[in-house]
Amino acid sequence: MTQKRVPSLVASLSLDEKLRLLHGATNPDGSSVGYVPPVPRVGVPALRMVDGPMGIRAIGGSATAFPASVALAASWNPRLAREQGASMAREARAHGQNVLLGPGMNIIRVPHCGRNFEYYSEDPYLSARFAAASVDGIQSEDVIATAKHYVANNQETNRYRVSAAVTERALREIYLPAFRAAVEEADVGAVMTAYNRVNGTHMSDHRTLLRDMLKDEFGFDGFVMSDWWGTESSVGAARAGLDVEMPGIPFEERVLAERLPEEVDPSTIDFPDTLPDMHEGGLFGEPLREAVEAGAVDEAVIDEKVRRILETMARFELLDTDPDEERRGGELDTPEHRQLARRIAIEGTVLLKNEGVLPLDETAAIAIVGPNADATKLGGGGSSEVTPFRRTTPVDGLRERATECRFERGVPPITESSLFDAFGTEDRVDESPADTVDTADADDVSLDAAVEAADGADCVVVVVQDDTTESEDRDDLRLPGQQDELVRAVADAAERSVVVLRTGGPVELPWIDDVDAVLETWYAGQAEGEALAAVLYGDADPGGRLPFTFGRRADDYPTTAPERFPGTNDGVDYAEGVFVGYRYFDREDAAPLFPFGHGHSYASFEYGESAVERDGDEVTVTVPVRNVGTRPGKEVVQVYVHDEDPPVPRPPRELKGFETVRLDPEERRRVSVTLDRDAFAYYDEDEGWVVSERRFTLLVGRSAREIRDRVSVTIE
Ligand code: GLC
Repeated sequence: MTQKRVPSLVASLSLDEKLRLLHGATNPDGSSVGYVPPVPRVGVPALRMVDGPMGIRAIGGSATAFPASVALAASWNPRLAREQGASMAREARAHGQNVLLGPGMNIIRVPHCGRNFEYYSEDPYLSARFAAASVDGIQSEDVIATAKHYVANNQETNRYRVSAAVTERALREIYLPAFRAAVEEADVGAVMTAYNRVNGTHMSDHRTLLRDMLKDEFGFDGFVMSDWWGTESSVGAARAGLDVEMPGIPFEERVLAERLPEEVDPSTIDFPDTLPDMHEGGLFGEPLREAVEAGAVDEAVIDEKVRRILETMARFELLDTDPDEERRGGELDTPEHRQLARRIAIEGTVLLKNEGVLPLDETAAIAIVGPNADATKLGGGGSSEVTPFRRTTPVDGLRERATECRFERGVPPITESSLFDAFGTEDRVDESPADTVDTADADDVSLDAAVEAADGADCVVVVVQDDTTESEDRDDLRLPGQQDELVRAVADAAERSVVVLRTGGPVELPWIDDVDAVLETWYAGQAEGEALAAVLYGDADPGGRLPFTFGRRADDYPTTAPERFPGTNDGVDYAEGVFVGYRYFDREDAAPLFPFGHGHSYASFEYGESAVERDGDEVTVTVPVRNVGTRPGKEVVQVYVHDEDPPVPRPPRELKGFETVRLDPEERRRVSVTLDRDAFAYYDEDEGWVVSERRFTLLVGRSAREIRDRVSVTIE
């Protein structure tokens, strides 16, 4: 059925049938985390929703476990996001699902945030490129993508109550661009409201951000769903522009409830305050009907919601699906999907430091040390968890390549926290080694043995990790457990030492001067072990660049004061305004440990002189880049805009363009990056977007701090 027929279809529905489409229900076969029931009388099938941004969290099933979203962003290659989106959509369809609850695109504002791994960057421009590419990829396979969590969901602490006090300028320059790109560039079919409040109003009830900005100004013509149990009211939300209340039913009726241990009565569970009151549900059912019948909500408002849902279904050819059949197709766990998971892990790997140690020599005797190095760091905890069909661990990867490789845990394993721990269900995807290794078994956990292994090897590879999950933020940025002690001990004993960080965000590296090389591999998904070996042995160039700033210490960031994070009296003050991440470090002229955009290659690149060409409103900067190294490599040419005499306080530089290029030794390429007029604008709360006549400097470089050339332009 085409979208043209939808208005007449809406007119044919009873109020009951309309309201059925506005809130979730229990999926009879329990296969979906979200389910909007069908209306068989008029041929409308169910909407079946599945998480998540890093692969399909199929209830009771498996799927390809891609690297974390932050690893994808670290590739600075949005084409990979498009390919990953299309692959996940194929796997969603193979699981009979037609809505993918991703990508997550919130800004990495707070380094402690437990969900940073599910997001892209501290920078709005980089986030927007990946948001649009991922949505485009997902929807290219006729699955509805969901831009989440709209908006300013930048911490997990108190996420259901906290109100972000944020200026309109910061919203428009920092927190909204990724969502706007998902709408304007990729025509996203769904948006999920965040749990939190913005300036005192719950996002599900936020008329300004939902109706006025998202729908009217940005032109979003899909449907807005709430996060799970994140709907604040019936009338307020209905009027504000929420279209679908999810999951729409109390926990007791949820598939999760079916997974509780027999003796647990779901209605008696008292959820921790990291979770909403999950006993609520059906706000858009009976209460909304009563509101319509009482005239508090016009039926025309209901009709518009139903129109949005059915037009989106028609757009994705769901209205031609037999309502009693799950639309299938798609494919699972194909060689292409496995290869893509490996490629993203490689291209997202950031070589933070390398003092002549990497790549490794095939003949080198290796010691691999780390409390969880014999387990794959698939992802973080929570709704994004994926159960893969296959996986490789760092120990697997190195044993495959090294002529001699000894593994020692060194210190007790690190637990892997999960949102699902709160439910007591077996919704956990993976048991962590901490749950499987009996740390009382002294043979397996011995610092002396690790030191001895390091001492006896040509090179020690120390694999360490953090522990982040949805619904919790980290207390500090230190590596958990005794991992810092382990790194110091083995680095001291080893001839050469390489540290592999498996983190979802910035961490403190107190031993950074004591080790020869550091790789950040993030949560690298199912192909972790093979990707790590490929980079360590130089089969592939570590293609990543940091999507956020690594400060030396937690208090280097603008969110150190408690009122800024985690907030006081249920409020959190975004007082730093637009000075988030490197924008803050640059304004303060503070030295980060590793700057935004940083990452070494095995090659080395020489930049020539930049040239600027104008074409109407477009400014193109072209710079010759040559690989003067001995190995092929990937370079990410970044262009930052600096306003030489800003009329308002502006960040000293802002990323507004980048281009990725691969060069063989001695190969030279002219790399061009084009900026549109928006690249020079700032937001004024009275005048809107302003591009006033001024002189700008374009900074061309390979990170926010490693600038290779500068060129001036005047904007009329
Ligand atoms: C969770 C998450 C959201 C997820 C949804 C369904 O609470 O915030 O990202 O898609 O609920 O699992």
